[in-house]
Amino acid sequence: MNKPAFAAVVAAAFVSASSAFAEPQAEVLHWWTSGGEAKSVAVLQQEFAANGGTWTDMPVAGGGGDAAMTALRARVLSGNAPTAVQLKGPAIQEWYEEGALADISAVAEAEGWANVLPASIAGHMQCEGAWCAAPVNVHRVDWIWANADILTANGIAMPGTWDEFNAAAEKLQAAGIVPLAHGGQAWQDATVFEAVALGILGADGFRKAFVELDENALTSDAMVAVFDQMRTMRGYVDRNFSGRDWNLATAMVMNGEAAFQIMGDWAKGEFLAAGKAPGVDFLCASTPGDGFLYNVDSFAMFNVDGEDKRAGQALLAKLIVGKNFQKVFNLNKGSIPARTDVALDEFDSCAHLSARDMAASSESGSLLPSYAHGMALRGAQSGAITDVVTAHFNSDMSSADAVKMLAEAIANSM
Ligand code: BGC
Repeated sequence: MNKPAFAAVVAAAFVSASSAFAEPQAEVLHWWTSGGEAKSVAVLQQEFAANGGTWTDMPVAGGGGDAAMTALRARVLSGNAPTAVQLKGPAIQEWYEEGALADISAVAEAEGWANVLPASIAGHMQCEGAWCAAPVNVHRVDWIWANADILTANGIAMPGTWDEFNAAAEKLQAAGIVPLAHGGQAWQDATVFEAVALGILGADGFRKAFVELDENALTSDAMVAVFDQMRTMRGYVDRNFSGRDWNLATAMVMNGEAAFQIMGDWAKGEFLAAGKAPGVDFLCASTPGDGFLYNVDSFAMFNVDGEDKRAGQALLAKLIVGKNFQKVFNLNKGSIPARTDVALDEFDSCAHLSARDMAASSESGSLLPSYAHGMALRGAQSGAITDVVTAHFNSDMSSADAVKMLAEAIANSM
């Protein structure tokens, strides 16, 4: 063996020996702080520890993750990125383009991710041909949750159309019951808005408006009708909705203080953590209309120094997509596994409905990325839409003005 080749062999042996002995470390930035969320992330912490890892927790409270993303930017700007970060949708590619993300292709290839993830999910985890994030789950956003006793006592069925929803809400209001539990935070307004938009615009209209940002779709009469429905629903929330956290709104439904909540299935994680059973204490149904809005949680690994941290990243990535972890985590989180080969026998009826509807909407072309949860658009554009949605919901702005503002906001954000 010539000298350079010998040196290369020694160097390779050294690298693998040092990573074999490096103790996996990870500082993990996430926003899973509610009851159900904390139980879910604990599953990952335990599995990491059981495999020799040391986890440093960096929780940043705030549903939807806006505060977590602000904290992330500050850390990266100060040259001290966390090891692993809850990150999703096009923000993954944005950070990769900044040169901030590690390539985790070696783990993805060794674990055969391409064979166990649906192509629609795998696409979100790849950056310029490399794997750059690991998916945890599939959350559905377009859900309506209800207190079972309240509906029975008032002779109300789960609404199948928005008109039925409005009729149920009027009836509840007349009986002195708050129809809609809501927290007045921008991302929650956006969550309700996109569920209404999917129902009223239909899957193609939603795609044109919130994926393709088509001006005609954004300014259509149907979009005016979406804002009209938002205005109607503003009348169904209680007086103290402003600033309320989403899990407190879920608790209102749980405790019989309100009938419905429109929220992604992380709300189911709250019901379950409180010992409530689907079909008995609470009911789940997709919001009126066809289609499925998906929101995939994932973790990206940031460029960091140190063998121990890199070993931590590789271990975390491997565990996150692991088959048993995907089952146990999602049983707690309210979502369904991202992997297609996890048996759903232990999952409840809401999860089965989610899996069925996801498969059917994928077939029919109505499986759509959630704009409100950062799956469809880059931050500047989704932020511009949410600003209008919130400004409209919290004022007496007309639907026509909201639609005009929407088109302008999108044009300015490009
Ligand atoms: C995340 C969920 C989380 C929810 C509320 C969503 O954007 O995808 O994992 O539970 O926000 O914090």
